[in-house]
Amino acid sequence: MRRFHRFCIFLFLNSINFWFLCADALAAGKTSEVCISPGGRFPPFSNVGKPPKKASKGPRDLTLCRVFRKKTCCDVTQTYPALLSIRRLASSGEASQECLNLWEFLECSVCDPRVGVQRGPPNICASFCDRIYEACSSAYFAMDGKTQVLAPCGQGDFVCGRASEWVSNGTELCSAAGFSVKPLDEPGEFPCYGGKGSLDYIASSWKSSRSEIVRGEQNTEVVQDFMQLIADMPLSERISWAVGGLVLTAGLLFASRRKSNGQRQKQAAIQRTGRRLGTRISPPASPVSHGNRKNVGK
Ligand SMILES: *[C@@H]1O[C@H](CO)[C@@H](O)[C@H](O)[C@H]1NC(C)=O
Repeated sequence: MRRFHRFCIFLFLNSINFWFLCADALAAGKTSEVCISPGGRFPPFSNVGKPPKKASKGPRDLTLCRVFRKKTCCDVTQTYPALLSIRRLASSGEASQECLNLWEFLECSVCDPRVGVQRGPPNICASFCDRIYEACSSAYFAMDGKTQVLAPCGQGDFVCGRASEWVSNGTELCSAAGFSVKPLDEPGEFPCYGGKGSLDYIASSWKSSRSEIVRGEQNTEVVQDFMQLIADMPLSERISWAVGGLVLTAGLLFASRRKSNGQRQKQAAIQRTGRRLGTRISPPASPVSHGNRKNVGK
């Protein structure tokens, strides 16, 4: 009887071992998903051939897309160009706040760990591209001479035109910007970025990294702006943008800088003109103007 008892324990322990082996094998199967550089206009990953990992603190840390800090193929090499893109969109691109948020979310697609392990440029859901097109159709874009993709209009660009003058729908906009577009947001697998499935994933990874991020970004003015922005949105949008929360901060930061710069410049211009004329004048109707803008196709 005692012997049988021992035998049973032996079997039991072995079966535990077996399960651990299985779990290991499964985990190993998962970690065989490794970072693959997307090519195109996107800078290569520095950890190509390795699984996505936590972003390291210090000079190579993500400057944007921090929602993906926990697990990503990105480092500063990818987020810096993304940051520049959003900054241009906010300044010379004259984009609305919603356009900035969506564009930031789009630029962050390369840093999504599930996108980073796929071959080729990020797959964006067509529905998400349509939303970007709606929000960004009147923002200014230019064809980048080096990469031959549509990018937010910069100071040095000769020919800047509204998105609606370059392209006629969301699919075209995403493709022209260097992404590939998936027509359907299928459940289950990970077919595309920016659909409901991908927002849910981001929401959950955001919740777990939230405290970390809040400590990092202590610009309370920006936070308040964001809260106001969220409060002004219709419910459906609020839900998806609550996801971005404090994570999508770059567009917000640039927009609030733009606001204060604009006011300061306007005041300075009024003072200069006032001094010259020796009188008080009313503020100009249009706060921003470009010397280098030419409308495309007109
Ligand atoms: C977008 O526009 C292009 C060119 O006008 C057209 O060929 C394509 O079918 C359109 N796509 C959608 C989803 O409407």
